[in-house]
Amino acid sequence: MRKDSKLKRLFIGFLGIALVAIWLVSCSGEAGSGKEKAKAQISEKTAHCISCHGEAGNGKVITQQWKESRHAQMGVGCIDCHKAEEGDVDGFEHHGDKIATIVTPNDCAKCHKKESDEFQASHHADAGMIMGSLDNVLAEVIEGHTEFNGGANPAAASGCWQCHGSTVALLKDESGNPIKNEEGVLQFDPKTWPNTGVGRINLDGSKGSCSACHSRHSFSSSLSRQPENCGKCHMGPDHPQIEIYNESKHGIAYRAFREDMNLDAQPWIVGQDYSAAPTCATCHMSATPNQPITHEIGARISWTLRPKVSEKVDVALKKKFKKLGKPLPEGFLTWEQRRANMQDVCTQCHNKGYVDNFYVQFDNMINLYNEKFGKPALKIFNLLGSTGLRTKVKFDDEIEWTYFFLWHHEGRRARHGVAMMGPDYTQWHGNYEVAHRFYMEFVPQVKELIKHADNKAGAKEVQALLDEVLNSDMHKWFLGKEDPEALKKRNAASKAFRERYSH
Ligand code: HEC
Ligand code: HEC
Ligand code: HEC
Ligand code: HEC
Ligand code: HEC
Ligand code: HEC
Ligand code: HEC
Ligand code: HEC
Repeated sequence: MRKDSKLKRLFIGFLGIALVAIWLVSCSGEAGSGKEKAKAQISEKTAHCISCHGEAGNGKVITQQWKESRHAQMGVGCIDCHKAEEGDVDGFEHHGDKIATIVTPNDCAKCHKKESDEFQASHHADAGMIMGSLDNVLAEVIEGHTEFNGGANPAAASGCWQCHGSTVALLKDESGNPIKNEEGVLQFDPKTWPNTGVGRINLDGSKGSCSACHSRHSFSSSLSRQPENCGKCHMGPDHPQIEIYNESKHGIAYRAFREDMNLDAQPWIVGQDYSAAPTCATCHMSATPNQPITHEIGARISWTLRPKVSEKVDVALKKKFKKLGKPLPEGFLTWEQRRANMQDVCTQCHNKGYVDNFYVQFDNMINLYNEKFGKPALKIFNLLGSTGLRTKVKFDDEIEWTYFFLWHHEGRRARHGVAMMGPDYTQWHGNYEVAHRFYMEFVPQVKELIKHADNKAGAKEVQALLDEVLNSDMHKWFLGKEDPEALKKRNAASKAFRERYSH
């Protein structure tokens, strides 16, 4: 009895699942994810590609995503992007067409020259050039080793390069010829691809990967405008932009009103097509009533908040051109112009006075970090190097790690926090950690190095500099030398504060 009804229930259950499955299959044949879209235009050539690539196991989903894309509606098919010319190093014969697997910024530029030119001129395109950096010593030497990966280091290949970009290479045989598989497909060196790092160096010499932000094969504008898109790279202890955004009023409003953001609209102009909240793209890239979209990601920022000591973004460039004896290139953006570009975004939603005051708060915080910690710590750190109190080997002295934490992690967090209105990053993940690192680790470690130095004259020099720093106005509290007037005021405030909680 019981067994029978269980079977019956099971049968009805299966029937239900089967009906739902049939219904789902019948739906997915049409426009796709429920939204009405214009039909894909499929050329004869692209139809040929799809005849094989529409099958499971061979990239079926690629074809589906393409069919729902704006490209498909406009008749931009597989061959229009993947076509290779005679002589292209990455090209190979493939069922009657010469194609390349990687579609580079040069390929997209055939139809999107403006976007590609702006991108090539940006810091994003140069992100692959990190080989000489201090961070790179970490990946290449300290964390990693090349032994397991035929001359390339897994820590760099699967870490740094996935954000910054690899130098794409083909697998070669002993005589240096590219290897093809039995299908005739050129084989990439797996140390270097798959990779969509934003500054990838491609076989055709172009820099970058448009699919860093335009996930294939939908190339959806809506996806590229969402903060999570930037958050693949702009996150973590040394540049927590997505975390800062999430905790800011802007991130809160975005999550609350995401449905009203009109993320699919074309064009997508702040204050006209949406107003609920800005995303990363809104502030850094997207159009305003006065500015077109820009792929020059630095066109709206005035400071660089990455280095040991922050400076205005155009300082290094101006120096470079002066040294070369060349005039500034046409269209060169000064920091003031870049700032005005950003403020044009803000003032679509805020009043001018509000925005101006924000920038005063922002500048003050950067100046504080620079003057109180950034510059003094750098000066002491450099003197430790030139006097030989620390070795030339990078990261073998504890103080080198301490200093790295101070500017590269905590100092950046404080600066990024204030730039994008995340007070917890400015304070508890930022300034607090900077101060703790400086007074409780950096200074004691400098003292230890002085104590144990072989170079006594050098030690004296460092001691003198340390004394100068600690006796300066900003640090003398640490020596118990705080200005008596200020101390008196604070003690009075402290008394009042305690009384507030005593009844
Ligand atoms: C006759 C079937 C067939 C046709 C037609 C065809 N392909 Fe392929 N294609 C394949 C198969 C199978 C593979 C996988 C080969 C392998 O890597 O072993 C492949 C591989 C590829 C790859 C390389 C992927 C990689 O991992 O490197 C690309 C890109 C590609 N095809 C694009 C196209 C384009 C674009 C067209 C139309 C111009 C096209 N294909 C036409 C069957 C086909
Ligand atoms: C708008 C340009 C564009 C169009 C149209 C396009 N692709 Fe691609 N395709 C790309 C880009 C960009 C990549 C990523 C290459 C990289 O950087 O790794 C890619 C990668 C691929 C890959 C290899 C990656 C993987 O996930 O296996 C295959 C296979 C492929 N495309 C097939 C197709 C087929 C089939 C079509 C047509 C249905 C098509 N593509 C249409 C731009 C395009
Ligand atoms: C053969 C020309 C052609 C090539 C090559 C091409 N595109 Fe496009 N792309 C178009 C056209 C046409 C549109 C539609 C413009 C419009 O809506 O008016 C478009 C639209 C877009 C959009 C906006 C999509 C939307 O949702 O509105 C993005 C993003 C884009 N392309 C990125 C790329 C990238 C990245 C590449 C290279 C990987 C590329 N395209 C290669 C022609 C091309
Ligand atoms: C999660 C993605 C990600 C990883 C992994 C990553 N980086 Fe970065 N890196 C970034 C971003 C994003 C920035 C820009 C931060 C900013 O502007 O605040 C950056 C900045 C840098 C800079 C400063 C560039 C300049 O112009 O000042 C260097 C150098 C650098 N990274 C090297 C490395 C090295 C070496 C590794 C591996 C040890 C690495 N990065 C790992 C995303 C990443
Ligand atoms: C840092 C992320 C990022 C990278 C890298 C990037 N894009 Fe974009 N792109 C965006 C965003 C965000 C938008 C949407 C802007 C908007 O409409 O508000 C966009 C929009 C576009 C559009 C539509 C423009 C329009 O007028 O509607 C095209 C075309 C495009 N990108 C092409 C490219 C090409 C080609 C590359 C590589 C050379 C590239 N993008 C690299 C983020 C990026
Ligand atoms: C409300 C506008 C706004 C939003 C939203 C926003 N930013 Fe920013 N961002 C700024 C401002 C303002 C600065 C500092 C500009 C300056 O230097 O003048 C900045 C600076 C930056 C910098 C430069 C840091 C450096 O090291 O020099 C990066 C990188 C960045 N933002 C990435 C992002 C990312 C990623 C998101 C989304 C997760 C985002 N931003 C969201 C306004 C915004
Ligand atoms: C694939 C990783 C990646 C993605 C995705 C990415 N970025 Fe970046 N971004 C970087 C790296 C790496 C740098 C530092 C480049 C350098 O200077 O070497 C950077 C630098 C920047 C800068 C500083 C530019 C300057 O001139 O100093 C801004 C602003 C920025 N990104 C904003 C964005 C925004 C907004 C998005 C999303 C629309 C985004 N990024 C998506 C990796 C990425
Ligand atoms: C698309 C509209 C929009 C844009 C663009 C925009 N904001 Fe906002 N901003 C908001 C909203 C909404 C709030 C939340 C207001 C509230 O909660 O009272 C906000 C809040 C703020 C706050 C208050 C933060 C807090 O914690 O109280 C500041 C400061 C701010 N924005 C500055 C800026 C600056 C600077 C820019 C340009 C770099 C900018 N905003 C761009 C919509 C925008």
